[in-house]
Amino acid sequence: MVANPEGKEGGAGGAAARTTNSGAERKSTQNTQYDQIGTKYLKIKELPAAESEVPSILAALGEDGVKGKRCLDLACGTGKYTHLLHTLGASSCTGYDISSTMISSALATYTRSQYPTMHFGVADCSIPESLPTLASDDTSGTGGFDLVFSAWFLNYAGTETELTNMFRVIESQMKVGGRFVGLTTNAHDPNMHIPKLDFYGLDVLVLDPAYTDPESQQVLGIKARVVVGGGQGFSFDVYQFRQDVYERCAREAGLEIEWKEVVVPDDERRGGGYWAGYLEKPTFSMLEARRVL
Ligand SMILES: C[S@@+](CC[C@H](N)C(=O)[O-])C[C@H]1O[C@@H](n2cnc3c(N)ncnc32)[C@H](O)[C@@H]1O
Repeated sequence: MVANPEGKEGGAGGAAARTTNSGAERKSTQNTQYDQIGTKYLKIKELPAAESEVPSILAALGEDGVKGKRCLDLACGTGKYTHLLHTLGASSCTGYDISSTMISSALATYTRSQYPTMHFGVADCSIPESLPTLASDDTSGTGGFDLVFSAWFLNYAGTETELTNMFRVIESQMKVGGRFVGLTTNAHDPNMHIPKLDFYGLDVLVLDPAYTDPESQQVLGIKARVVVGGGQGFSFDVYQFRQDVYERCAREAGLEIEWKEVVVPDDERRGGGYWAGYLEKPTFSMLEARRVL
């Protein structure tokens, strides 16, 4: 059983993950691949390929960008970055994920008694009606979240409609003047169709080098499989859409994107050129988005 953000119990894979639309079940392209992966996923965070995540997130959030802020973490997984927001001084942090296994792990690690300002719940964050719409229902303009965050969420959209819906969720959760900071698959790599083998600890196999939107028939980028730990490890599939696709979908949802820097760890490896190959084609891109004025 998992608890929703209000602290009530909900069944595994809770109701919010299966929002119905006109009676028909509507599910995102994202399946339940993380129900099988569970806490094994944290292994990926120990790889060199993931070492730039925290410095890049901190740079994009900015100094004091989180202090005293009400934060939402979409596709929070085991809650690693929900907790990072907590340590950066957020007044509260709410994390949602489609996988009840991931949310159970987050709840077990960040218990309510130890972390009373951290909340977790199961929800499909690509469906706007799945989450309470605090911001848009609020006429005073103060409801909603100051900061909406997500790491490795937008790359689960398999169509432009789905990516637009993810941005709609983000927009509907942001209070007036709020912002979104996100990490997603590299949207700028012109050679994304070339596999990355033994790349800073992981393999990125290309499943479809010219992934076509099943709805619009437009090529959006690639579909890839990330393999961690070879045969004994685990793998998951992601979409890698181009920058222009992101910008179009964000705009459709009323948001404007500003791309941010990927920042490598500040240690002795920096001067030695260790990260040069990584920075040529990092595994992720950082973005910030605000409402179009
Ligand atoms: C690669 S993990 C990232 C977890 C966490 N953000 C992190 O960086 O440690 C991706 C997560 O996205 C979740 N996810 C994928 N599609 C989702 C959706 N439509 N709504 C909510 N969560 C989703 C998966 O269940 C999984 O936990």
